[in-house]
Amino acid sequence: MTITLPDLPYAKDALAPHISAKTLDFHHGKHHSAYVTNLNKLIKGTDLAGASLEEIIKKTANDDLKAGIFNNAAQAWNHTFYWQSMTPNGGGLPTGAIAEKINADFKGYDKFIEQLKNAGLTQFGSGWAWLVIKNKRLEIMKTSNADTPIAHGLQPLLTVDVWGMPITWTTRTGAAAIWIPSLTILSIGISSTLISFKSRRKCI
Ligand SMILES: [Fe+2]
Repeated sequence: MTITLPDLPYAKDALAPHISAKTLDFHHGKHHSAYVTNLNKLIKGTDLAGASLEEIIKKTANDDLKAGIFNNAAQAWNHTFYWQSMTPNGGGLPTGAIAEKINADFKGYDKFIEQLKNAGLTQFGSGWAWLVIKNKRLEIMKTSNADTPIAHGLQPLLTVDVWGMPITWTTRTGAAAIWIPSLTILSIGISSTLISFKSRRKCI
């Protein structure tokens, strides 16, 4: 099985002005694409050649000799998940089951957003902030570089690329700047992520 670069789930200009078409073009078309290309080169002719992206991540996690494969596989997975964590129609408060779960596990939406923001803002260097399910509870976690909840047996529901390319082109004021615009477009992503998580995973 060759790992392929999935299309963005929206038009390249759909997230503007929060994330520009130029930024999405570069981040998806160059960076994400490079992880996929590198991964296919690295697994060619190995026992991982027929494996799914998720299987490759799980089989190479914590194996120093396969760090290159893990890094490219995990970044490919994380970026696909990141595109799906945002929507041009977002910005409202979550509703239904996910809203109830957020209230129960974080003691309110504001506290959930505060923890998510804090995870991103305190992630040193590049990495990811995540909403995950751990022991049937919603939790916030952060990971460095390519690391991903998948490698830790956790189910991610939402992610934000902490040190992503948007900083390069939309602002140069620092990591905090990506959070404010990102958070305005991801709320509906939260609801749809949880509700349709199983069907969405088939696309990854
Ligand atoms: Fe990125």
